[in-house]
Amino acid sequence: MIPLFLLAASLLSSSALAATTCNGDDSLCDRSYSNMTFLGAHDSYAVGTSLADDQSSGVTDQLNDGIRTLQIQAHNMSDGIHLCHSACSLLDGGLMESYLAEVNTWVSANPNEVITIVIVNSDSLPPTAYESAFQSSGLQSHVYSPPSAAIAFNAWPTLGSLIDAGTTVVVFMNYDADFNQVPWIIDEFSNMFEDSYNDVDTTWSCAANRSGSNPASSLMMVNHFLDVVYDLAGTAIYIPDKDAINTTNSESSLEIHVDNCMTLWGRHPNHILLDFYNSNGNAPFDYVAQLNGVPAPTTNVQAVAPGGGENSSSGNGTDSSNQAQISSSSRSSTGSGGAYGRAGMLPTESWTLTVSLIGMGLGGGVVSLWL
Ligand SMILES: *[C@@H]1O[C@H](CO)[C@@H](O)[C@H](O)[C@H]1NC(C)=O
Ligand SMILES: *[C@@H]1O[C@H](CO)[C@@H](O)[C@H](O)[C@H]1NC(C)=O
Ligand SMILES: *[C@@H]1O[C@H](CO)[C@@H](O)[C@H](O)[C@H]1NC(C)=O
Ligand SMILES: *[C@@H]1O[C@H](CO)[C@@H](O)[C@H](O)[C@H]1NC(C)=O
Ligand SMILES: *[C@@H]1O[C@H](CO)[C@@H](O)[C@H](O)[C@H]1NC(C)=O
Ligand SMILES: *[C@@H]1O[C@H](CO)[C@@H](O)[C@H](O)[C@H]1NC(C)=O
Repeated sequence: MIPLFLLAASLLSSSALAATTCNGDDSLCDRSYSNMTFLGAHDSYAVGTSLADDQSSGVTDQLNDGIRTLQIQAHNMSDGIHLCHSACSLLDGGLMESYLAEVNTWVSANPNEVITIVIVNSDSLPPTAYESAFQSSGLQSHVYSPPSAAIAFNAWPTLGSLIDAGTTVVVFMNYDADFNQVPWIIDEFSNMFEDSYNDVDTTWSCAANRSGSNPASSLMMVNHFLDVVYDLAGTAIYIPDKDAINTTNSESSLEIHVDNCMTLWGRHPNHILLDFYNSNGNAPFDYVAQLNGVPAPTTNVQAVAPGGGENSSSGNGTDSSNQAQISSSSRSSTGSGGAYGRAGMLPTESWTLTVSLIGMGLGGGVVSLWL
């Protein structure tokens, strides 16, 4: 007589129930999570044309287009956790719960796709503070809960096993994760390292910048977005280099970065974060498919140029809605050289941003805002 639980277990592991297509390809079902390259959206929720926005299309479009890593920045507000960029007075992307509900709708409709969420815990909230947003959005039922706080590099599950278990959402948090309190919020730096951010040149070094364990045996996340930096009364303000976005989001630029990772670490990165991920259509998606050894996706990613570039300045400020922009003329007059490369004063058109920053008490310091 076979005990019922053994029967159930054998049914679950039988080929009849096992996924045969994983993240778009049959060959990826046996692939370990730690041997995949996923394309990601830096500040996934920061969608729009202001200086603090990093994307032009929202999270459902991102996922439909093939983005599989969602980086989000959490801030504590009186009505719950919001996704904001640097500060909620600068860019407020709304309640985390609403964002996660949108992700949940997509994840529920796409059970054969493994995705990753990387939380930047800006206000050092305890991990328990995140439970209600995941619960009420419904996403909680899809999260992967690892067996230990640190997962050995070669012990990460395969995509097939994550999909078979229905736990297709891998959640990391940069600081203050606690396995004993909330086991499914995985401590980022015990398991993954990141290379530099706020890059203002195209070195794309892949050297470990933030890490809490041996990078040689950790997951690897690279920040592939280029900034320009402005000096606001001693405060460095990093803003996406929209003029260079198609070059940055091209195969040849990504290849420089990945080649550096190969040289330093002997393997491809696991997560590649982009700004304005769809500026260059399918280019980055085709390249990542090559890295994973699968055919180019059939998805047609419609190219969307970042808004708020040339000639879109709304002027001096009758508009209080953070519509600050950099005009091409003021940008080119910032010149080159100096400690920050293309440094200079923020264009006067950026008055709303300036007002927000002064409101935040950031003028005059050496605070670096990660925009
Ligand atoms: C989050 O904000 C609420 C309301 O402003 C406050 O009561 C709570 O103490 C904050 N939590 C943390 C951990 O700062
Ligand atoms: C990491 O990157 C930041 C921002 O570019 C830089 O200020 C810092 O010095 C870097 N740290 C290391 C250890 O490389
Ligand atoms: C996956 O493994 C192959 C074969 O060892 C390697 O070439 C590739 O770089 C690995 N990819 C990642 C993301 O680790
Ligand atoms: C960026 O690339 C897309 C195609 O991938 C193209 O439609 C668009 O015109 C390019 N933008 C610029 C500014 O070259
Ligand atoms: C921006 O304005 C200048 C001057 O009016 C014009 O020459 C240029 O073509 C405009 N650029 C775009 C992208 O519209
Ligand atoms: C900006 O303000 C200055 C001074 O108030 C004014 O001369 C200028 O015309 C304004 N520019 C725009 C685009 O509104």
